[in-house]
Amino acid sequence: MNYRHAFHAGNFADVLKHLVLTRVLTHLHAKATPFRAIDTHAGLGFYDLTGDEAGRTGEAAEGWGRLDTPFPEAVEHLLAPYRAAVAATQARHGATTYPGSPAIIREFLRSTDKGVFVELHPADAETLRERYNQDSRTKVMHLDGWTALGALIPPPERRGLVLIDPPYEELGEIDRLGAALAKAVAKWPTGIYLGWYPIKDVSHVDRMVTELHGALNRPALRLDLLVSEPDATRLNGNGLIVINPPWRLAEEAMLFLPALAERLARTDYGAFRCEAFGAQA
Ligand SMILES: C[S@@+](CC[C@H](N)C(=O)[O-])C[C@H]1O[C@@H](n2cnc3c(N)ncnc32)[C@H](O)[C@@H]1O
Repeated sequence: MNYRHAFHAGNFADVLKHLVLTRVLTHLHAKATPFRAIDTHAGLGFYDLTGDEAGRTGEAAEGWGRLDTPFPEAVEHLLAPYRAAVAATQARHGATTYPGSPAIIREFLRSTDKGVFVELHPADAETLRERYNQDSRTKVMHLDGWTALGALIPPPERRGLVLIDPPYEELGEIDRLGAALAKAVAKWPTGIYLGWYPIKDVSHVDRMVTELHGALNRPALRLDLLVSEPDATRLNGNGLIVINPPWRLAEEAMLFLPALAERLARTDYGAFRCEAFGAQA
C-alpha cells in the first residue's frame, strides 16, 4: 500500500469526485429521514495543502486552486454546497486545509445521519480514528474496504450512499470496481453508489461500463471528465459511476461538467461525458 492521498488532495480528480459527492448529499437532505454515508476507501479525512506532500506535486493548484474565479450563476448554484463544505472544513482545521471525503460527509450529517469511514492503511486509519471517533455520528473502521462493503450494506437506515474510491495501485482495479458495484447493488438495490475511476486508457472504462450495464437492473450514470487527451501512460481524466442517481443529477452534470472541462483543462483540451446506462427508472 504505497498510495498516499496527501500528494493528490484537491487535484482535478478530487474536484469532480467531491462535487458529485456533495450533489448527492444535498439531494439526500431533501428528506428528513436519516441516511448513512459509507466511505470504503476513506484516506486521512482532510489535508494541509501547504504540507510537504501536497507542496511537492502542486496538484491542488490545477484543481481546487482553479476554482477561485466564480462560474456563471447556474453552475455556482450547484457548486455552493461543495464550496460550503470546503469553507466549513477550513474553519475547523485551518485556512490551508482541503477536505477529503470524510470531512465533506461530516459537514452534511444531521443529528440522526451516520458516516462510516473505512481505511486499510494502519497509520491513516489511526489518524482517521483520532479525527472522527469522538463524534457519535461517525465511525472509523480499520478494514479492507472491498470486504467491509458487503458487511455494511444494507445499512439500518436503508437510505444513503456508498463511495468507493480505491487507489488503483493494482492492475484490474477498474474491473474490480464494476464487479463490486454489481454485487453490492444485488445486496442493497436502493442504495446510491458512487464508484470513482481514473481515466488513462478509456477502453478499460468502456469495458467495465458494458459489463456493469449487463449486470444492473438499476439506473446508472457515467460521468467522465478529461483535462487532456486520453493517454494510456498518464492520468488525464477521471470519472464516477453513480448508481441510483438522484433524479436531477444528470441534468446538473450537463451544467457542471462542461464548466469543469473548460476550467480544468491542462492546455486547450477539456472534455466530458454524461451517459445514462443500466435499467431506466
Ligand atoms: C484515493 S484515496 C481515498 C481518498 C478519499 N476517498 C477522499 O476522497 O478524500 C484511497 C485510500 O484507500 C486506502 N486503501 C487502499 N487499499 C484499501 C483497501 N483495500 N481498503 C480500504 N482502504 C484502502 C489508501 O490507503 C488511501 O487512503
